[in-house]
Amino acid sequence: MTIIEKIRKPFDAVRSVVRFEPLETDAVARRLARCANVDDLRAVARRRLPRGVFDYIDGGAEDEVTLAGNSQAFRDVTFQPRVLRDVGVVDTTAMLLGTPLPFPLALAPTGFTRIADPAGELAVARAAARAGLPYTLSTMGTQSIEAVRAVSAGRLWFQVYVWRDRGLVADMVARAAAADYEALVITVDTAVLGRRERDVRRGFSLPPKIGLGTLVDGVLHPAWTLDLLRHEPILFANVAGSSARDGTSAVSLSEYVAAQFDPSLSWRDVEWFRSLWSGPIVIKGIQTVEDALIAADLGIEAVALSNHGGRQLDHAPTPFSLIAPVVDAIGDRVEVICDGGVRRGSDIVKAIAAGATACMAGRAYLYALGAAGERGVDRCLTMLHDDVKRTMALIGATNLTSVDRSSISGA
Ligand code: GLV
Repeated sequence: MTIIEKIRKPFDAVRSVVRFEPLETDAVARRLARCANVDDLRAVARRRLPRGVFDYIDGGAEDEVTLAGNSQAFRDVTFQPRVLRDVGVVDTTAMLLGTPLPFPLALAPTGFTRIADPAGELAVARAAARAGLPYTLSTMGTQSIEAVRAVSAGRLWFQVYVWRDRGLVADMVARAAAADYEALVITVDTAVLGRRERDVRRGFSLPPKIGLGTLVDGVLHPAWTLDLLRHEPILFANVAGSSARDGTSAVSLSEYVAAQFDPSLSWRDVEWFRSLWSGPIVIKGIQTVEDALIAADLGIEAVALSNHGGRQLDHAPTPFSLIAPVVDAIGDRVEVICDGGVRRGSDIVKAIAAGATACMAGRAYLYALGAAGERGVDRCLTMLHDDVKRTMALIGATNLTSVDRSSISGA
């Protein structure tokens, strides 16, 4: 070996293993490249959003026992993986409300989505449409029924709370029908607002006010604050201009709910909704077998087993734990959606194994929106879909009809 070759050898050895990636100049792509799962998106959102905003999204009621329990319920389940089953082709498609979807997930309604990103509901609806999944717009949305339809040719559902002013509710339902929303989702777990103690401590209001208390938070998160100031004010877009307060002045959510929501809501009102809405109805917030049976007897198309993401009654049962008993009681009369705690596609597969038709997820996409805007939501939905497919392959299931209680233990 010549002297030159001797000198070059170690350099060549290093060169053979070192690969410098081209520098990524797109900040969002850089951020997303480091996110391998929903928890990573949550960590980025936590850094980027003011603490009050992050805690409003992330937090739950009282001791947050139910909030934690919703996800824990999935972790307590183990798969019973079958091997040597030829999983060369895995089909993740499912039916929901009589229509196929690429994998069994609907995007849950979340209020005030624009606090996570200025495009808010428009960004989420566009991402959901690209993924072929239904997106549920909340009554407490910060984009209107019509504005969301204008950006999405996909499946849209409309969620209603019941305002004391029934005329306002009937008007919103009629607008959703006119804008070709597919299903009406009636949330029934919010007779009064749960006590979200993180919001209480921070004096969090909606829309967020940039007062003295939040000024420091705002200065520490300049990108978010500039976005808020640069865009049109955040309002309850679907009640804007009505007699109900539309968010032109900041208000605490509990004050707002106490003033506007009707705590006398009862099963009779569900019949009233039936007279207003000819499409499918989903009752969201069912937490017992008994109430699921009432919904089934009323001919409701789907129930969403939900404790509002642990934001209402603390120590409520987890949606996952309700799937098997509810499905056993109501059979296939009603579709069963598991809403709460979904952070991975494997959670969705576990819910299907227990007997659910599909899952709903809210926080997962809000974290993604707060972390990286619309592209974050795209990434989140792709990750969940990929997870479902990989999990199915690893448990030896080529389609979702073969995923059943024998696929898991602990349902
Ligand atoms: C609204 O639905 C909330 O849970 O804050």
